[in-house]
Amino acid sequence: MRVVRTVAALREAIAEAGDGGVGLVPTMGALHEGHLSLVRAARQDHELVIVSVFVNPTQFNDAADLDAYPRDEARDVELAASAGADLVFAPNVAEMYPQGFATTVRVTGSITHRLEGAMRGSAHFDGVATIVAKLLIAVSPDSAYFGAKDAQQVVVVRRMVADLGIPTRIVSCPTSREEGGLARSSRNARLSPSARTRALAIPRALREIEGALSHGEMDAGVLKERGLAVLRADELEVEYLEIVDPDGLEALASVTRPALCVVAVRVENVRLIDNVLLTPAHALAAER
Ligand code: PAF
Repeated sequence: MRVVRTVAALREAIAEAGDGGVGLVPTMGALHEGHLSLVRAARQDHELVIVSVFVNPTQFNDAADLDAYPRDEARDVELAASAGADLVFAPNVAEMYPQGFATTVRVTGSITHRLEGAMRGSAHFDGVATIVAKLLIAVSPDSAYFGAKDAQQVVVVRRMVADLGIPTRIVSCPTSREEGGLARSSRNARLSPSARTRALAIPRALREIEGALSHGEMDAGVLKERGLAVLRADELEVEYLEIVDPDGLEALASVTRPALCVVAVRVENVRLIDNVLLTPAHALAAER
């Protein structure tokens, strides 16, 4: 497995590989099964699969969170190779943000200001959009793969790519889940055994909402209350639980068409997010 650290070396390696199509999996390292499912999806679609490993400082609003972010490049490289990646791009901060760097890619409006933007500060998505734009420019991939767990990130990246005319297909892959349903996240490693058990209330709450919807309850307020009751029973600190339009992320009053239920909680100070696509019964019937 080849590891390159500069954009120049990356472009050389891509040129050497010929033009069989390139798939990029952007990551911040600390790879887990969720990332590996993205690598496998890229492997199925493309001749050359590149995994980027870069802990992007501009998307962290908390220096302690950035410092605590797990880093183990050797392990990441091994895991990326085991899932079928051909190349790891692992630049340092100066390579991506050289002296005098003064450009920010900003996606405006409710898709960046609500939910994660409101909780982490809208600069979070400036950091994400800027680094993803830089990676897409450096690699020029045919497709780039993102996990559906970070639903808002996918919406923001799709908007950015459409607005800037970047010719990369953005692929959102299903959330990978642990036994019990907890969404896989690099942050799960920070959960104590008791926090991990309590965190299982997150997928339970999402299932509760799906269940109520399947029994005909379409009022978003009532559905949210059903989910919140599950989270409160385990004393999770809820940052938000919302039912929103899957594209614009505006809050919906009722689920009369496909909607996204998004949730963010803290468990013993570990921040976890998750979501589920809600499809009302009549829309499901129409699909059949
Ligand atoms: O989802 C992530 O790991 C990061 O936000 C990304 C897309 C790699 C950008 O740093």
